[in-house]
Amino acid sequence: MPLGLGTTQFWYDSTRETREVFHEAAFSYGINVIDTAEMYGNSNKEVGKILKQWGRENFYVIDKILPDNMTEENFMKSLRRSLNDLGTDYIDLYLLHWREKADLNLLVEKMEEAKREGYIKEWGVSNFDVKDMEDLLKVKNGDKCYANEIMYNLFYRGVEYDLLPYLHERGIKPISYSTLDTRTSRNRTAENKVLRKICEENGICLEALMLAFAIRKYDLLAIFKTTTVEHLKENLKCLDFDIEPYMDIINEYYPAPTRKVPLEKR
Ligand SMILES: NC(=O)c1ccc[n+]([C@@H]2O[C@H](COP(=O)([O-])OP(=O)(O)OC[C@H]3O[C@@H](n4cnc5c(N)ncnc54)[C@H](OP(=O)(O)O)[C@@H]3O)[C@@H](O)[C@H]2O)c1
Repeated sequence: MPLGLGTTQFWYDSTRETREVFHEAAFSYGINVIDTAEMYGNSNKEVGKILKQWGRENFYVIDKILPDNMTEENFMKSLRRSLNDLGTDYIDLYLLHWREKADLNLLVEKMEEAKREGYIKEWGVSNFDVKDMEDLLKVKNGDKCYANEIMYNLFYRGVEYDLLPYLHERGIKPISYSTLDTRTSRNRTAENKVLRKICEENGICLEALMLAFAIRKYDLLAIFKTTTVEHLKENLKCLDFDIEPYMDIINEYYPAPTRKVPLEKR
């Protein structure tokens, strides 16, 4: 399944309705990926409620460690705290949230150790640009990195120039966040009618079009956030929408990059 759900809406708390979105996604549509992080306030604990209520085995959990905790002293403390908050004995995919000054040798050593101990199934990174990936892959066992979670959407296509092909060629899974780019997308569509016309013609919302765009290539896993089952259902129309016939016109208005663009981060 190329889609997963974000959890920053759980920063302070969750409600029966906001948790229900995850139940509906997993049990009606087979979308079982949950993207959380120790940075997102109460999110790990709120995700824990979902796992408890509907069964740990029915979900695939991505969690992230802060660079400040990527130290000899803090790594296991952080991992244990996350496991405890999530109420589980394993995390499916554990990511370094962003690089900062993290020691990449230590990162690989600790992640591989946690994998051997069964605390995590796979590990990866987030917000790593090509240079960061090159540095990581120079480290012994750095090539065991499973995924890189990066900002990518129709309006920020910079990573198509180098990072997405780089990951793809090396079998490292790209995961997109802010895939709906709600900060600017609605304004931008008001600026030109192209995307809205495609949406109208196909009976889909802009968010579904943006998801279809993100998952069209590179075997990418697209993370998006929604607090309503209604939006979830609308967005999942991306799975039945063939964007290929529209790519020429999309490229005209939102061109693919023709030179290096530094990785955008949120
Ligand atoms: N690795 C990282 O550094 C990083 C950084 C940022 C985010 N993330 C992850 O990515 C997740 C999503 O990214 P994001 O928070 O930037 O948000 P996003 O998924 O790009 O956009 C979410 C927004 O879109 C709205 N939306 C969704 N479907 C809609 C629809 N059909 N119609 C109208 N509005 C719709 C949601 O509102 P409704 O609730 O009303 O649907 C919400 O306000 C986060 O929760 C987090 O898990 C990771």
